[in-house]
Amino acid sequence: MVKFSIVLGTRPEIIKLSSIIRFLEENDEDYFIVHSGQHYSYSLDKVFFDELELPFAKYNLEVGSGSHAVMTSKIMVGLEKIFLDEKPDFVIVQGDTNTVLAAALTASKLHIPVVHVEAGLRSYDRSMPEEINRIVADHVSSFLFPPTVESKNILLKENISEDKIFVVGNTIVDAVLQNIVIADKKVDVKNSILKKLDVNDYFLLTMHRPSNVDFKNNIINVFEGLKKVYEEFNIPFVFPIHPRTKNNIEKFNIKIPEFVKVIDPVGFLEFLQLEKNARMIFTDSGGIQEEACILKVPCVTLRFNTERPETIAVGSNVLAGNNPDKIFESAKLMFNKNNNWINPFGKGDSGERIINILKEKN
Ligand code: UD1
Ligand code: UDP
Repeated sequence: MVKFSIVLGTRPEIIKLSSIIRFLEENDEDYFIVHSGQHYSYSLDKVFFDELELPFAKYNLEVGSGSHAVMTSKIMVGLEKIFLDEKPDFVIVQGDTNTVLAAALTASKLHIPVVHVEAGLRSYDRSMPEEINRIVADHVSSFLFPPTVESKNILLKENISEDKIFVVGNTIVDAVLQNIVIADKKVDVKNSILKKLDVNDYFLLTMHRPSNVDFKNNIINVFEGLKKVYEEFNIPFVFPIHPRTKNNIEKFNIKIPEFVKVIDPVGFLEFLQLEKNARMIFTDSGGIQEEACILKVPCVTLRFNTERPETIAVGSNVLAGNNPDKIFESAKLMFNKNNNWINPFGKGDSGERIINILKEKN
């Protein structure tokens, strides 16, 4: 029997690997999960295992927060021992975090085939830690699963051999489609979070990229842009705040404007509902650009580049960076946007297709 190892460590990895884990579980496949412990707060970690009813990790390396080198090296040391003991046939990673980098390096050095889910994304901005992580992961992987033909072409241009590449869509579509119905049954943000905030119409805001939140002036600029948007539309922002952002706002002593309603990070079911009911989404997240596109909610991305250019091409997203005027102009452009675009990320069967391809190739 084929033995799969799933390595994950952060909020988006848990969400985007959930359909693969569910498929392995339902089909009684031989697999185990390793959690690096990169994310550990309940609201960034356990809430997703609970809400998505995922089995807990067999191993948790509990590396916690730290510098890139500390996190990556600790994860590598922990994984090496597990891989040597367990001898998996495949190591599956998703995305571009330090957990992905560490797992891809460790497995490839042990000659265990690395499977990279969401391969071939490039922002062409090497100041982003994720860009380095995804390039390395792609180049040491034996099986690459880019979400679109565009991302496959990026891999081909980097001389990665075509026989390793399989376009399967993005597992975020699986996660959204599998959970949106459950979300509507299990949670009701209108009568909970939004009622408490006394908000009806709102824009949804998230921000956690170091390029924005590690610099005082960039946070101030974003709030300046959002103020212009608020003055134009008179619609407040709901802002589930990432701990990196919360810590930095406190450290920089920045006052969050009153029209920005801060809440703790929420579970995936609540977040899907918050997205679906928002007038528009403002974000610097990767996954949220995709979800906005899938859920047909216009998106303004608070970045100067994106590794999800498909969303721009279909018209669901625009880039505004952290420039106040650009944020305002982008908001005006997207506010009355016709949302008849077509989701370019697949039908929602990516997880199943990935496992079936791997079994066939073993
Ligand atoms: C990481 C990923 C990023 C991903 C994001 C998802 C890297 C380089 N970055 O960024 O690609 O988009 O996760 O959210 O891998 N913290 C907590 N509780 C936690 C985890 C972190 O309070 O459970 C705080 C700590 O102060 C920590 C800071 O958040 O120092 C940043 O955490 P870290 O994992 O280094 O990076 P993220 O910004 O979360
Ligand atoms: N998300 C969530 N609760 C929140 C904010 C985000 O469940 O309060 C989900 C969101 O639906 C998406 C993922 O977290 O699937 C995105 O994670 P994040 O923005 O942290 O990382 P990125 O996608 O940028 O790597």
